[in-house]
Amino acid sequence: MSQHSVLLLPGDGIGPEVVGEAKKVMEAVASRHDFGIDFSVADLGGVAIDNSGSPYPESTKELAMAADAILLGAVGGPAWDGLPAAERPERGLLAIRADLDLFCNLRPALLYPQLADASSLKPELVAGLDLLIVRELTGGIYFGEPRGIEADESGLRRGFNTDVYDENEIRRIAHLAFQFARKRGGRLCSVDKANVLEVTMLWREIVSDLASEYPDIELSHMYVDNAAMQLVRAPKQFDVVLTGNLFGDILSDTAAMLTGSIGMLPSASLNSESRGLYEPVHGSAPDIAGQGKANPLATILSAAMLLRYSLNEDAAAKSIESAVERVLDSGLRTGDIAAPGESVCSTGDMGDAVVTALSAS
Ligand code: IPM
Ligand code: MG
Repeated sequence: MSQHSVLLLPGDGIGPEVVGEAKKVMEAVASRHDFGIDFSVADLGGVAIDNSGSPYPESTKELAMAADAILLGAVGGPAWDGLPAAERPERGLLAIRADLDLFCNLRPALLYPQLADASSLKPELVAGLDLLIVRELTGGIYFGEPRGIEADESGLRRGFNTDVYDENEIRRIAHLAFQFARKRGGRLCSVDKANVLEVTMLWREIVSDLASEYPDIELSHMYVDNAAMQLVRAPKQFDVVLTGNLFGDILSDTAAMLTGSIGMLPSASLNSESRGLYEPVHGSAPDIAGQGKANPLATILSAAMLLRYSLNEDAAAKSIESAVERVLDSGLRTGDIAAPGESVCSTGDMGDAVVTALSAS
């Protein structure tokens, strides 16, 4: 029987609630598929600041380095909003991404037919939507130097960041995007701002050069402003979308909303050894934290991605995904995906229902 190690980073806000449900589901699926998981738990984000003064403590780093995969809830909240940029909970998340070299962020946006009415777009525009955003996660303006806020002699302050990618960083993420396109619909759209920004002129050139190695993939390029418009105008034109760190942050929230609720969307952040950190696309939702109102499905589906990409347990991943479908078929809804007037279940009810649906397969 294979034994895997998974580090849980519940984080802040609704993080602990949704990670708790995903853990239940992982335990249940492991026993059905005959493998074991050793779970460890550590602090990241605001909770880590409160407990040890740093958003990414050394003890968390050691466990992160040792684990086969990491499941994260969410970080951040109003309690830490007043802190200087370098001490905020979000810095913990950026640090762990950089530390583990998790440059490849996968954000699928899949519309479950059961939720077509929950989308803010007309059902016919989103029915059958299934796209994958491949976001570069450890470079670009999020990490570029120089950065800071500085005052000149007169006391006038200026804030600045640097958007920078070298050829190798572009090439390694682009290769993966072409390969994901090959496993899916065979179409790749690279999103940039090559009409203005030199860094993305290079991006476009490198991605175009790679196309000859993937003659079976239909490559297109789109400026980010147009991509934002196309995502809400005709989102089904996209199969795989490749983009940099900042554009990917923004476009993935847009894509998430097309599916009805950001509470449904999982993500994976991988390095070149397929070690990864998995997290829901949504944030810590401090307004509903601790009330059992959060939708745990994005985290449960992130656990499925974890099983698939880092633990190589594809059958177990599929079991979770079909269990989620069955639960949606049964009509169970947390508040974020309920139609007006429909009755609403708790975070724990939803997690329990997925565990029960696992045994129905
Ligand atoms: C995300 C989040 C993060 C990001 C924040 C919390 C640092 O918005 O994962 O999309 O900007 O990458
Ligand atoms: Mg974001």
